[in-house]
Amino acid sequence: MSAKTGSVTLGGKTVEMPVKSGSIGPDVIDISKLYAQTGAFTFDPGFTSTASCESGITYIDGDEGVLLHRGFPIDQLAEHGDFLETCYLLLYGELPTAAQKQDFDYRVTRHTMVHEQMARFFQGFRRDAHPMAVMVAAVGALAAFYHDSTDISDPQQRMIASMRMIAKVPTLAAMAYKYTIGQPFVYPKNSLDYTANFLNMCFAVPCEDYKINPVLARALDRIFILHADHEQNASTSTVRLAGSSGANPFACIAAGIACLWGPAHGGANEAALKMLSEIGTVDRIPEFVKKAKDKNDPFRLMGFGHRVYKNYDPRAKIMQKTCHEVLAELGVKDEPLLEVAIELERIALSDEYFIEKKLYPNVDFYSGITLKAMGFPTSMFTVLFAVARTVGWIAQWKEMIEDPTQKIGRPRQLYTGAPKRDYVPVSKR
Ligand code: SDX
Repeated sequence: MSAKTGSVTLGGKTVEMPVKSGSIGPDVIDISKLYAQTGAFTFDPGFTSTASCESGITYIDGDEGVLLHRGFPIDQLAEHGDFLETCYLLLYGELPTAAQKQDFDYRVTRHTMVHEQMARFFQGFRRDAHPMAVMVAAVGALAAFYHDSTDISDPQQRMIASMRMIAKVPTLAAMAYKYTIGQPFVYPKNSLDYTANFLNMCFAVPCEDYKINPVLARALDRIFILHADHEQNASTSTVRLAGSSGANPFACIAAGIACLWGPAHGGANEAALKMLSEIGTVDRIPEFVKKAKDKNDPFRLMGFGHRVYKNYDPRAKIMQKTCHEVLAELGVKDEPLLEVAIELERIALSDEYFIEKKLYPNVDFYSGITLKAMGFPTSMFTVLFAVARTVGWIAQWKEMIEDPTQKIGRPRQLYTGAPKRDYVPVSKR
């Protein structure tokens, strides 16, 4: 069968370009030689039609609402496995055997402590610093602790750096939370599993033992699975671009955390809860839906819409189920925020504007209500997203470094500034 090709005709000249097919999903037109052959760039701000890389980690079908990690559907991973199993799958490409899982859990558990000097690092922040700002700084600071032992050309050191990242980010996240509430840091406990350990570091106090609620621990572990990786989203693309220069992986993850913080991305869970609180009661929903539809109003329904999903985000369904489980476990009845969220979803999904623009709830729509019920302040919601997404970022970083065709990312532009002109002395301006 002849190779598939695409062609572009520019200025009377037609240029053929190879078309590449993946294992599933859309083909790509390889335009890498377009500029050399035509003198023109492609133009795609926001990369709505651009594949930046080859990857075998996560596949999303936005029209069907499908999310696969190494081929396994997200609902099956969330139902049957735990977060560290998903971490293993993303890093190694296969589900672990029982022995592999036990060894992986052991290795992650024994990397959860951070250098004792990191504790002093937090003292430089005001108590009311946003924990995401603290996380960008703290994770970036890890680069200073491990710079000399992170030879990214050595597969063994890449894996050690990956394990350290997965293991230490929750510890730093818990420290960022404790610092903002003026409580002492709680050390990791090797007797606890990953998510129970994180809950303990966040909510335990030296004066008394903290009893882990297994239902909440399981719910948070599932929330981590839902947020683990998501193809070439903005923060993952940030990590890949930073990593393409050969930068220290800890610094690359810090760049990913910075990008995730934005309300259009991972900051949406914090923004969605603030929006639900601002709406307050069901009778005020029409007023906000009207604002969301008004072209002249910058207001958007936070937790709604997605660049890729033009169907229901599969994670949002599992998130909603988890939300009900957590509220039931905590005996929270008639939570007004949930009432508003469910009615807002019902109204939006039956509204012509949202139907026509294919806007559905995304993973951030129900997560805030769940995390608030668990006792996390709103400012910690995106930090929790970053804890989970660290494995996705590091798996994608590793895949990029190990790609033999990898080169530094360096996009071009459409220049619309002033053409060449001569300097004008200040006396003549
Ligand atoms: C995440 O990429 C990922 O995979 C991200 C993520 C991951 O796991 O990494 O899934 C996590 O970031 C989820 C998204 C969280 N963000 C929000 O919930 C913020 C609210 N949503 C929007 O800002 C928006 O939907 C985006 C940013 C998510 C997607 O924006 P796009 O793809 O650039 O789409 P767009 O802005 O071009 O919107 C298309 C149309 C526009 O109307 P028109 O200009 O065509 O007339 O839909 C409208 C938008 O105005 N629209 C909305 C809307 N989202 C889009 N209108 C009202 N409310 C919204 N939420």
